Amino acid sequence: MNNPSNLGLPIGTTLDRFIKKKQDEFEYATGELSQLLRDIGLAGKIINREVNKSGLLDIGGAYGSKNVQGEDQQKLDVIANIRFTRALHNGGQVCAIVSEEDEEVIKLNTNGKYVVCMDPLDGSSNIDVNVSIGTIFSVYRRLSPLGAEVTQEDLLQPGTEQVAAGYILYGSSTMLVYTTGHGVNGFTLEPSLGEFVLSHANMTYPTDGKIYSINEGSWNEFDQELRDYITWCKDNNLTARYIGSLVADFHRNMLKGGIYIYPSTTKVPEGKLRLLYECNSLAFIAEQAGGVATDGQQRVLEIQPKAFHQRSPLYIGSKNMVKKASEFVAKESKEMS
Ligand code: AHG
Ligand code: MN
Ligand code: MN
Repeated sequence: MNNPSNLGLPIGTTLDRFIKKKQDEFEYATGELSQLLRDIGLAGKIINREVNKSGLLDIGGAYGSKNVQGEDQQKLDVIANIRFTRALHNGGQVCAIVSEEDEEVIKLNTNGKYVVCMDPLDGSSNIDVNVSIGTIFSVYRRLSPLGAEVTQEDLLQPGTEQVAAGYILYGSSTMLVYTTGHGVNGFTLEPSLGEFVLSHANMTYPTDGKIYSINEGSWNEFDQELRDYITWCKDNNLTARYIGSLVADFHRNMLKGGIYIYPSTTKVPEGKLRLLYECNSLAFIAEQAGGVATDGQQRVLEIQPKAFHQRSPLYIGSKNMVKKASEFVAKESKEMS
């Protein structure tokens, strides 16, 4: 953990107070983004409450429908989507939401200044086995005038245009980690208070690390370059860790140093993860913390999205580790060498 004095705000500062203090640093801030971030914090607490009841109430298991990606929706996927949407709707700052669980865009307040992209529940396959799961979000400023119809351009902005991104991790404790482009800060939910409090100030990605995270069960579907890189990891005594919840794998690697890979495979040539609400959000956080995120060839944040549920391969983590992986898999670097 880094020295909290970097922010001038002590460990234990509540999320609401932290957001307010940060807003005061910007002369022209109107407070709408701050309100939106507080709404997300509230949504996180509500989803946390539901997640914690998993196993007790009839909220585990499959919902009986498929989402737009053709994946079985779990009951908690659906609950988290509803809860999050409702919190943003009530807050009034958001004009539209792109969600993993909804094929079409959800239109909210026509006067809302912001667009939110979200994966309400990440790591759904881990819900019923009591393993860490998460929520991921990205915030963009809309480009069209207030009051007008939301446009494709509002919704399909490259990751470089994010004004905020973050995730909530429902792990051994519940954490909210976010950035507004001025560093990354982590808040832990204090259950007896029901408040997120600053616990990880000014988070930074170690430049190097020892962890590689990839589903090696897909080895037969990897291309040779990637297999060579994995072999290099083994030869260099790296350690393998793979939870199967992107948020949890990312969070561990950011604290300890590591690389997470969800590659292009013969089964899923575009990768499995979604650009708008998985890759971009975490790429923004990674970069803000001094890490790197590519699709194996180019910077994730510069990819121009063409569809809401577009997928992308993801290589994300410690700078030197992503650089090493790129030496194996990036076409450009091979042509250059
Ligand atoms: P989601 O639950 O939102 O659909 O995301 C699941 C993702 C991600 O969290 C995880 O890293 C990855 O799927 C695991 O996929 P594999 O089982 O193919 O490794
Ligand atoms: Mn996900
Ligand atoms: Mn999901």
